[in-house]
Amino acid sequence: MPAAMSKLVPRALRPPRVVNINDLRRAAQRRLPTAVFGYLDGGAEAEITLRDNCQAFEYVKFRPRHAVAVPHVDLRTKVFGAELSFPAILAPIGYSRLMHPDGECAAARGASAAGTAYLLSTISGHKLEDVRAASSGPLWYQLYLVGGRPTAEAALDRAARAGFSVLAVTIDTGTAGMRERDVRNGTAQLMSGNIFKMIPFVPQLLARPGWLAAFLMDGGLHKLPNVVIPGEDPMALIDVRAALADSVVTWNDFGWLRKSWPGPIIVKGVLTGEDARRSVDAGAAGVIVSNHGGRQLDGVSATLRALPEIVKAVNGQAEVLMDGGVRRGSDIVKAICLGARAVLVGRAYAYGLAAAGEAGVSRALDILRTDMERTMKLLGCASICELNKSYVEVPQNWPI
Ligand SMILES: Cc1cc2nc3c(=O)[nH]c(=O)nc-3n(C[C@H](O)[C@H](O)[C@H](O)COP(=O)(O)O)c2cc1C
Repeated sequence: MPAAMSKLVPRALRPPRVVNINDLRRAAQRRLPTAVFGYLDGGAEAEITLRDNCQAFEYVKFRPRHAVAVPHVDLRTKVFGAELSFPAILAPIGYSRLMHPDGECAAARGASAAGTAYLLSTISGHKLEDVRAASSGPLWYQLYLVGGRPTAEAALDRAARAGFSVLAVTIDTGTAGMRERDVRNGTAQLMSGNIFKMIPFVPQLLARPGWLAAFLMDGGLHKLPNVVIPGEDPMALIDVRAALADSVVTWNDFGWLRKSWPGPIIVKGVLTGEDARRSVDAGAAGVIVSNHGGRQLDGVSATLRALPEIVKAVNGQAEVLMDGGVRRGSDIVKAICLGARAVLVGRAYAYGLAAAGEAGVSRALDILRTDMERTMKLLGCASICELNKSYVEVPQNWPI
């Protein structure tokens, strides 16, 4: 157990019960109703891409330099001007307030305590100003065009004034992915507010009284305080799926987005060299190689597999970040060897958030950091700046 583990971390999340992110996943599963856990854990359709994202890391093998003393490891990096203590940024997770009442505020605090950045989703349950107030660390804002351009411009104006420094525009949500677990678990019915539709699915909520009590004390489902069509009330969560399909981001939008946002813009959801080039041409300062954690188009390439093609296409003209399937610090090391500046982690911290709020987020980040330090020492590499392709062996023919 690392000596520095925060006193905030409850006994249930300490070793021997929680040793890795998969243990945190089980802790989240024990606390959340089936529908909420399915929303967090699940992917689209047959979940091929969800599985491949994780499996891709298993096919990349390390090539260590032995008989090298590495007493200290330097994991620090700089991304868009922000100094990060280690190269893992918290990915946007829509309506994290469902996992835990402190939701997005707890995630931002956990990121800040770990010395890293938090990318807040458009679909946040907390006001972006409250998230800013909760954290003293770097905050980035993720944009969906739900509600259309005037809604987005109003949110961007608020985010820039609150001190969010980077804008990430998600481009892989032309329509909502088919999440079969959500259909089976009655997620839409539970959000409908219609008691007759809800009744068949209520027993799963009653089976998790701890979560249910916290959810009800938090006032139930909140409207989305950062999705406000000018002159109207904030949008309800149930309306987001339809609104997403009605407001697809296209490359033309980057013209007005560049004028509306004073800082760097990054494109989230790039999976090919072609889209990476288009992002650079559209003025992006960075791209996130991402398939939305396997939640959108099932059957696309695992992100680790797509990463080298995108690094090559970008050719140093933008920062390359990646996400998808990161569950261990060694996964982060592999992504950096293949050219990522840093990774984003989604479910890895969200499992912690669901299990124990901010303390769970901290525990997840602590696991990843400790893993990374050990991996670097075993690799014989003292700094992430020195990592490159020579530390890994990549399959000639990927079996996935
Ligand atoms: C429950 C959940 C909600 C998500 N919500 C958003 C979102 O609102 N905006 C977005 O751009 N990506 C969203 N994503 C995708 C993540 O930002 C990220 O790309 C993905 O989780 C990375 O894969 P990983 O979970 O395997 O780390 C969501 C992912 C999950 C699991």
